[in-house]
Amino acid sequence: MKFILENKKADVELKILTKKCEKLEKYGFKNSDMETLFLIESQKFYIFIEEITPESIKIATANVMKALKKYNFKSIKVDMIDSNDMDIQECFIEGFILGDYEFDKYKSNKSSHPIKNIYISNSKKFLNDAIKVAQIRADSINLTRDIVNSMPDELTPKKMAKIAKTIAMEEELECAIFDDKFLNEEGYNAFYSVSKASVHSARLIHLAYIPKKAKRKIVLVGKGLTYDSGGLSLKPADFMVTMKSDKSGGSAVLGIMKAVKALNLDVEVHGIIGATENMIGGNAYKPDDILTAKNGKTIEVRNTDAEGRLVLADCLCYAQENIPNIDEIFDFATLTGACVVALGEYTSGVMGYNENIKDKIVQMGEKTGELYSKLPFNRHLKKLIKSEIADVCNIASSRYGGAITAGLFLSEFIEDKYKEKWTHIDIAGPAYVEKSWGCNPYGASGAGVDMMLRYLYEIQK
Ligand code: BES
Ligand code: ZN
Ligand code: ZN
Repeated sequence: MKFILENKKADVELKILTKKCEKLEKYGFKNSDMETLFLIESQKFYIFIEEITPESIKIATANVMKALKKYNFKSIKVDMIDSNDMDIQECFIEGFILGDYEFDKYKSNKSSHPIKNIYISNSKKFLNDAIKVAQIRADSINLTRDIVNSMPDELTPKKMAKIAKTIAMEEELECAIFDDKFLNEEGYNAFYSVSKASVHSARLIHLAYIPKKAKRKIVLVGKGLTYDSGGLSLKPADFMVTMKSDKSGGSAVLGIMKAVKALNLDVEVHGIIGATENMIGGNAYKPDDILTAKNGKTIEVRNTDAEGRLVLADCLCYAQENIPNIDEIFDFATLTGACVVALGEYTSGVMGYNENIKDKIVQMGEKTGELYSKLPFNRHLKKLIKSEIADVCNIASSRYGGAITAGLFLSEFIEDKYKEKWTHIDIAGPAYVEKSWGCNPYGASGAGVDMMLRYLYEIQK
């Protein structure tokens, strides 16, 4: 799909209405938010947006794409929204690309993607730049979606590593891959234990984008559970379906790493992905096991389904030990069902000790139309992960506040000097979509990618 800044005749004309249009009411149009109308005689497609925000414009253009797909039009003509706001312009373009996404790898009849050209008239200042940036960001989101949507027997830890290598080659990034032998021998016993029962060996993936004289050094850690059966604390059948999406955090990190060089960011970015499966078997790790993470802390396992935090603990240790002078560390994970209970399925939870960074995450989400909300730590919740027999327990003693106690567990693996530089983002809600919403189709959403790319862009300015 190409965006062309020309006022050319096309198969269909898109009219984005930002003011009520009474003329259309005779067709039954109610001028309600995101309502669409297609007038066949005039080949005009209308959509009404009540309030122009980056989010609403992205949803609108994504919905237009979805709706127009079935008509076989090859080109669209549209007037650019009257706004010089860069975020609005980028979201306007991004929506078209995200709305065109379809995951049909496993279907015999592939979708046709008929729309090839989008002609934009009334171009605004910056629109050319906005198109470039939006294209890179949307392609990254769609790559993340593809990875997450792929089935667990295909998208194994090894395959994730292969994708990382391909990204490294294409984008000239540095790439180091470690397998479970390394994890075992080097003392990443928490990560290693989770992976033990899987026939697919684990991978710790480290990608790095190191531009010269970068202003800041950022580390992104992602939970890459290519399948989470729950392990011996086996998930009930209904809860297990969709657990291929437990690699969403790691996949988001891969998506982000795919874009950093293309966006020419003046920030050093490291992506670390803990890729493994949580399975059952004679050699599975067990409730009652005591694991020793790379930083020496011992962990009492009381539930093998709280595996993400074990993998992340060691990945966070790896980052702090191997990357000197980190400015900020983020982790992305589909970590807890409790986060979905707390915030609903559209919002990610943001945790950590640095209010400025957390606020900035929420704000960057708003600029790209993703929803983030802070979940506060407190001293009482912290007591709930105490263990009688080890340094810390992998689950809390209460059934409430599970998203935060998981965050507090991770904080046990953050060195004091990094405490205020670390932020945990629980994307369990929005990462996987079972009923299409916003500009997300069924399946993986690519949660985290858009917000983080925006974040990285802002801090280098
Ligand atoms: N991957 C799940 C969390 C999850 C649940 C993600 C639903 C997406 C949707 C995680 O590994 C898990 O199973 N967490 C447990 C933790 C509990 C045992 C303390 C959970 O949330 O139930
Ligand atoms: Zn689990
Ligand atoms: Zn999990």
